[in-house]
Amino acid sequence: MLGVVAVGLVGWMWWASVLPGAYSALDMGVPDFGGGPGSEAHADSHAHANAAGAGGTAAAPVAGETGVPDLIADPGRPADVRVELTARAESVTLPGGEPFDGFTLNGSTPGPTIRATEGQLVEVVLRNEDVPAGVTAHWHGVDVPNAMDGVAGVTQDAVMPGQTFTYRFVAEQVGTFWYHAHQTSHPQVVGGLFGALILDPAPETDAAAAVGANPRTVDLVAAIHTYPGGQRTIDGALGDVHQEAGPGDTVRVRLINTDSTPTSAWVTGSSFRLLAVDGHDLEGPTAVADHSVQITAGGRADLEVRVPESGAVRVQVPGASIVIGPDGAHADQTSAPRDQLDLLSYGEPAPIGFDPAAADRRFAYDIGRLPGFLDGRPGYWWTINGGMGAGVPMYMVDEGDVVVMTISNSSGEGHPMHLHGHHLLVLARDGVPSSGSPWWVDSLDVAHGESFEVAFVADNPGVWMDHCHNLPHAAEGLMTHVAYNGVTTPFRLGRDTGNDPE
Ligand code: C2O
Ligand code: CU
Repeated sequence: MLGVVAVGLVGWMWWASVLPGAYSALDMGVPDFGGGPGSEAHADSHAHANAAGAGGTAAAPVAGETGVPDLIADPGRPADVRVELTARAESVTLPGGEPFDGFTLNGSTPGPTIRATEGQLVEVVLRNEDVPAGVTAHWHGVDVPNAMDGVAGVTQDAVMPGQTFTYRFVAEQVGTFWYHAHQTSHPQVVGGLFGALILDPAPETDAAAAVGANPRTVDLVAAIHTYPGGQRTIDGALGDVHQEAGPGDTVRVRLINTDSTPTSAWVTGSSFRLLAVDGHDLEGPTAVADHSVQITAGGRADLEVRVPESGAVRVQVPGASIVIGPDGAHADQTSAPRDQLDLLSYGEPAPIGFDPAAADRRFAYDIGRLPGFLDGRPGYWWTINGGMGAGVPMYMVDEGDVVVMTISNSSGEGHPMHLHGHHLLVLARDGVPSSGSPWWVDSLDVAHGESFEVAFVADNPGVWMDHCHNLPHAAEGLMTHVAYNGVTTPFRLGRDTGNDPE
């Protein structure tokens, strides 16, 4: 008898986990208002999302609601920077490497580095030549308007072969970012659909910025990526990359971790300063020696190094390095320093512009792991606050809210947590308050057993993914949304829609 009940229960769990062929992202979670006001509009938007039904036929938002497609940059404003990206599926062979079935943008991987200056309007036309699953472009770390966020099935439909999609956003931030596909993102990113995005400050007029200054300031973009077959690269090159620079030159090395696991980076031949993390300059960065820097999956670290009077500087990550100096100058390979720079106490405190103690909403994002069914597939899946699939929390906010979130992890593995459209300020780790520079992140490693208190200001309306950037983990359910009350999406996920953001 008990056996029959158990089989019946498991059968019910299986059946209950199977998703419809098309569904709204807004139905993939249990609304959690974090102690702040709930909203009538929310209940309506749920009914509304359901009513749109299968087939992805979008209904217009009802009065008082905003549809994701309306959250865009000023459509009347002409572009200052315009880039065309053509995505292809093809066999790729990196110089000196093994061929693999991958992807290119404008014929190469990584795709072109896109560069713009603060205040400019960036327009990128993404064209899918022949990537069968469809493609999108997500601007990782850039707080773009929601319709430009590039998440298939949430903010747009996947761009199918022969189609184009135009992204437009104003560069309001300054720093090191990157872009990548957010449709079947694990295979597409590993296979090469990504590139660097650098947003420069508006030009200074003082002499220090003068072209031809000596010693020079050199700006170096370094996207770290492991291609299929374990081919570890920096900017698509295996092994050592060489960057020419003269003795005394200062170099800003923009390290971008495009992999699914954290990497450490360290420097030989110079001390360094950590100037920025995730596109946010740190306050009062001091010289560091004998420490490595940990870069979260999806994260960035801008290191400043100085080329010595003789020899070169080596910036090293496991399996690849950049040698910076005059042609032929040498710098030894070294093993990683035992100590890691701790960003909880690095640099100087500074005002943050809002008061986390007066939070409007407080959320828990508790990562665990349980056996169960995810869309009918049995497995040992990631959970959020004990739920999986449609049982995860959907974090509901209002525009203007100050939000505090505690992210804790008892899942047995570390997770690089990434919230779209917002930057998170680290308040504390394991109860120890941040005492250094304000530490803003868009990607944060939360190790097993660790707990972080973070805060953000809800200032960018939309439906925003909040997921693990170990991309297979996202596909295994470590994925939810921060959603603004009153915002609805006409886009649909599910096997009948062609949209599959993980
Ligand atoms: Cu870099 Cu949701 O992604
Ligand atoms: Cu993870």
